[in-house]
Amino acid sequence: MMELQDKVAVVTGAASGIGLALAKALASQGASIALLDVRRDERDEAAKAVRACGGDAIGVVTDVSDAAAVEAAASATLGAFGRVHVLVNNAGVVVRGPKLFEVEDDVWDWIVGVNLYGAIHCLRTFIPLIRAHGEGGHILSMGSMSGFLSARRQTGIYTTTKFAITGLTESLAHELEGTGIGVSLALPGGVNTEFYASSAALRGGLGGRNEFAAATAETAGFMSTEEVAARAIAGMKAGQLYIATHPDCRRLHEERHRQLMAAYDAADAWTRP
Ligand code: NAI
Repeated sequence: MMELQDKVAVVTGAASGIGLALAKALASQGASIALLDVRRDERDEAAKAVRACGGDAIGVVTDVSDAAAVEAAASATLGAFGRVHVLVNNAGVVVRGPKLFEVEDDVWDWIVGVNLYGAIHCLRTFIPLIRAHGEGGHILSMGSMSGFLSARRQTGIYTTTKFAITGLTESLAHELEGTGIGVSLALPGGVNTEFYASSAALRGGLGGRNEFAAATAETAGFMSTEEVAARAIAGMKAGQLYIATHPDCRRLHEERHRQLMAAYDAADAWTRP
């Protein structure tokens, strides 16, 4: 069981939502936190809220899709705390509406840039720092049910990047076996955040359409960020590769596997014409 007292955690996308809740929960267990987020206006309030939970915190304005910005954030983190033990790759954006065969490259570049390259830049920058001190650590990826299932929610671009995060994280777990650095993939279902609204604001003038730009009534009934954070941190400390936060999502995985098994049944029954 990994202990967080006196450890240093970097949390991306920590200005709001799940990232902020994770940062607060990690701080309440004694960790110091570097909050990396592209939103400058939210940074100071978020860092203050995290400090109020017990641990020290700095806010670093960082666009994770920019490799140089991530390296600068690492320097700021080392300057403040000297070491890094935990990386939480949580920053993410979403767009709902455009069809995969319609959407322009600028939207693809933005979402792949944040959701996938953001995680890649952070792994490349922070894993060597975690390895350097030999005290071990952990990488927590904020995946999603959308990293295992494609639903009819018009979020195909987002789903594509979350499937990539599943592959990235599972592969990383193999690569880091035996190094003292654990790897976890949280796979939440719906969480009560302003995800659609904050993504719509960050998207600015990119082309195409974006439906559901604001939180819906549906969102209000979703799991709280505090609950997701508590479950994710418990899973991380226990060394789980997969952290299933939403018990009611089990049936969705079962349905997917039922469909896959049906494909194998067809393979078994296949005969050449
Ligand atoms: P949120 O919008 O509150 O948090 C996302 C954060 O990422 C924001 O603070 C935003 O400013 C930041 N961000 C966006 N672009 C960035 C960039 N280029 N560089 C650095 N930071 C950037 O939304 P939420 O829901 O807390 O999302 C957090 C993560 O949880 C995302 O990866 C999302 O895919 C994942 N997730 C959310 C679910 C939900 O139902 N809300 C369900 C499953 C996963």
